[in-house]
Amino acid sequence: MYKLIAFDAYGTLFDVYSMGQLAEEIFPGHGAAFAVMWRDRQIEYTRLVTMSDPNPAGSKHYLPFWELTIRSLRYVCKRMQLVLTTEIERRLMDQYAKLTAFEDSLSVLMKIKQLSMSTAILSNGSREMLATVVESNGLKPYLDKVVTVEEVKLFKTSPQSYQLLLDAFKVNKEDILFVSSNAWDAVGASWFGFDVFWVNRQGWPFEEIGNKPKFEGDSLSKILEFF
Ligand code: LAC
Repeated sequence: MYKLIAFDAYGTLFDVYSMGQLAEEIFPGHGAAFAVMWRDRQIEYTRLVTMSDPNPAGSKHYLPFWELTIRSLRYVCKRMQLVLTTEIERRLMDQYAKLTAFEDSLSVLMKIKQLSMSTAILSNGSREMLATVVESNGLKPYLDKVVTVEEVKLFKTSPQSYQLLLDAFKVNKEDILFVSSNAWDAVGASWFGFDVFWVNRQGWPFEEIGNKPKFEGDSLSKILEFF
């Protein structure tokens, strides 16, 4: 039995690809490609910052995830030759701040709390953006802690980022089940030593490096079958 179930935020509890719908409204015909490229570039920037100065005291290139999200948005618009006005940037970032949770995020957290396990988020997200999205979706009462890599200024998949969970909850690696829909995050967390539940909503193949996670399901609620 695990003591702590720790969730990735963006893409796992909160639906980032819903940004594609708004993007499609704003940039007809480009929404889906835009959303994917935006997400990829955002994560690319986190890796660039972390790998270029993997100092345990924090990367000197660190910028909060919110800022990297804006920078990547600007890049993608330039690359796709889409005009990003101040108003469009504001609309997209406002929506990002209040992304909707997946339909089962709340019920899964409630159920885990009923089973007397601790719950947490471990996210690249900056503190303020996480507080906003957690509160706007009503998840706050069911999360013991919202842990952000802002504390170490090294993004996932740095070992220091996953270590934050051990320090915050004073538990051992084997006490934690880490839940992510991002296969790269699942690989990183497994390599760090956590058991992982991979939420594979799209039925995608797993990465060709790293071991397949211990658990896999096509929705968050499938996790409950393993307790
Ligand atoms: C997070 C992103 C990477 O919440 O999904 O950490």
